[in-house]
Amino acid sequence: MRKYLIAGNWKMNAGPKEGKELAAELSAKWGDHSFKVDVLVCPPYLSIPAVVGELSGTEIKTGTQNHYPEDNGAFTGEISTSMIKEAGCSYAIAGHSERREYFQESDEFIAKKVKKALDDDIKPILCVGEKLDQRKSGNHKKVVQEQLNAVLDHLNPEHASDFVVAYEPVWAIGTGETASPEQAQEMHAYIRSLISEKWTEEKSANVQILYGGSMKPANAEELLSQPDVDGGLIGGASLKAGSFSEIIEIAESLSK
Ligand code: PGA
Repeated sequence: MRKYLIAGNWKMNAGPKEGKELAAELSAKWGDHSFKVDVLVCPPYLSIPAVVGELSGTEIKTGTQNHYPEDNGAFTGEISTSMIKEAGCSYAIAGHSERREYFQESDEFIAKKVKKALDDDIKPILCVGEKLDQRKSGNHKKVVQEQLNAVLDHLNPEHASDFVVAYEPVWAIGTGETASPEQAQEMHAYIRSLISEKWTEEKSANVQILYGGSMKPANAEELLSQPDVDGGLIGGASLKAGSFSEIIEIAESLSK
């Protein structure tokens, strides 16, 4: 049975001081609570040590927003999966649309990052999703298929238990606009069918597929109630302990 994963993507927000405060609020709220869901925060690199420190003793995990797919060496400005692990992270977002757009990350490069994370026991969260014009022209499924298959082609079925996908329609990110529950469910089911084609139905049934794009307490319940929506990758609403916790509570209450 799939668990929900409620993941906060802090993006370039909450430096060491603010990040520590936000983590301390989450820690005060959740303490030693035993979750039915998986909970994760992905702060900027510099805030990770303080956040990991504050969250020790809770079940909330920490992850990164990006990494470079080599062990070490002359890659100025980059961070490797071994460093991520040493810092206490167990998840890594890969291929977020902001990285695809502002840093020209290609499907091939993203595939390397996902593979490297899996090889080093870090759970990657692969982000896929179409832009507004691609949805308007009816190409949304084709875009997502290409983004997903570019990565799946480099993986094998054994990776299924640690591989997470986030469907994030670009037009819904940070815009306040959300995919309707029906649009989300349709794409999530499609993503699961693509994984099933590459691997097996059983393997694909275990992959957590998150929805991202203006998820907030007001719309979380209807999105998370969809059969193939297994959680959320949450930007804006994860920057306040209150709203992030409300979404966690909704997922907890929907969990069997
Ligand atoms: P948002 O961001 O919740 O602010 O729309 C989601 C994301 O980009 O991961």
